[in-house]
Amino acid sequence: MSGTASPHDNQIAPAQGKLGVMIPGMGAVATTLIAGVVAVRRGLAQPVGSLTQMDTLKMGETTVPVKEAVPLAALDDLVFTGWDIFGGNLYDAARTAQVLDPWQLESIKPFLESIEPMPAVFDQHYVKRLNGKTVKTGRNKCDLANQIRNDIAAFKQKTDRQVMIWCGSTEIFLKETDVHQTLAAFERGMVDNDPSISPSMLYAWAALKEGVPFANGAPNLTADIPALRELSQQMGAPICGKDFKTGQTLIKTVLAPALKARSLGLNGWYSTNILGNRDGEVLDDPESFKTKEESKLGVLEYILEPEKHPELYRDIFHKVRINYYPPRGDNKEGWDSIDLFGWLGYPMQLKVDFLCRDSILAAPLALDLCLFLDLAQRTPSLKHAGVQDWLSFYFKAPDVKDSGRPEHDLFLQAAKLKSTLRQILANPTAAIVEEEAEFAEA
Ligand SMILES: NC(=O)c1ccc[n+]([C@@H]2O[C@H](COP(=O)([O-])OP(=O)(O)OC[C@H]3O[C@@H](n4cnc5c(N)ncnc54)[C@H](O)[C@@H]3O)[C@@H](O)[C@H]2O)c1
Repeated sequence: MSGTASPHDNQIAPAQGKLGVMIPGMGAVATTLIAGVVAVRRGLAQPVGSLTQMDTLKMGETTVPVKEAVPLAALDDLVFTGWDIFGGNLYDAARTAQVLDPWQLESIKPFLESIEPMPAVFDQHYVKRLNGKTVKTGRNKCDLANQIRNDIAAFKQKTDRQVMIWCGSTEIFLKETDVHQTLAAFERGMVDNDPSISPSMLYAWAALKEGVPFANGAPNLTADIPALRELSQQMGAPICGKDFKTGQTLIKTVLAPALKARSLGLNGWYSTNILGNRDGEVLDDPESFKTKEESKLGVLEYILEPEKHPELYRDIFHKVRINYYPPRGDNKEGWDSIDLFGWLGYPMQLKVDFLCRDSILAAPLALDLCLFLDLAQRTPSLKHAGVQDWLSFYFKAPDVKDSGRPEHDLFLQAAKLKSTLRQILANPTAAIVEEEAEFAEA
């Protein structure tokens, strides 16, 4: 562990000054997040969907708003920057994304126009459907990653603390290889241009190397490799899971525990989506879709535990599809067709049709993650803990320390998050006790 003793070593350091939020990928989610924060700051809208802004925490006999109970950065103290391959400013990017109504964007136009993404580290090999306009060039991946470090260092001059959250496109499916196993191998691999090192990993490496916590909103293999876990612990820069749990998987991780709690059986779960935004276009490429598919498929097995209940969940047919359908834009429609069975094996069906708004669901998660990662870094017991599994609430693919079992049940995830908040408030230096996990086993 690195770091020198500070006056705050036994307490959660206060959230003083500006929190810089750095976003690789300033498309639909990022612009909806930033425009939303500004609208809320100005009293023009409510931060609906954000646990940090809207929920409460039970503290003994009293219940207190989370943002009053926990020393989180205030929305007024957030400063945004980021990288993208499209150039222009965030007003243009938000207009292209077509998530928020034009009248709403007009009301905050000067603010959005004042932010221009920095040139990105991008390689079309990893996102086939996009063509980069504003892209950094360098001798090798190490040089490119160091250019990101320079961008971070410059932003540090303008802000007091920083977090980074990947809201970039879904990259192609990558498997863990030798180069991901240790930090030394990874850093050699950057110099050798190893193809297993993607642009998102270069951002994550640069952030962690600068001591900046990192979250991944997309399903690509990024910080969830041993090399970057090692760097995260070493630098006291927390990391967490990946792929925002927004529409269909959010509902799946509510319904599946209900079936399990009632000992109802399952034969199949067919999930399909139509989506017309740029994310949908990128996911139309089979290699990027494979990354998303892996992330979406995992949840049922983990929740239902077929090995413990073979008579109920042995041969579930689970299928997930995403189809690019431009007329719907960011307004995704997700259908679930669920074949279950009950008493004496009699079959039943359940249909879900969720007409959701992708970025409207994702933006509050991105906000909470930024605030909680910053909190984790200011908390002695969490700062050097590496993976923050208490943040699994936000992810389709939660990451866990020491290859433990990830929790997917939404309500157990929420309980774990709040239990962690209560524990760090009571004792900021003590190791977190898995209270809710024990409850789950009971
Ligand atoms: N909205 C949701 O509900 C949701 C849920 C889970 C995951 N996600 C993931 O979040 C990510 C963002 O979604 P979105 O709807 O904003 O997509 P988007 O296509 O609108 O924005 C992604 C942006 O990333 C940029 N980009 C790609 N590679 C980059 C790189 N190497 N460096 C910098 N910028 C890069 C693209 O140019 C684009 O502007 C996607 O990967 C998506 O799969 C979204």
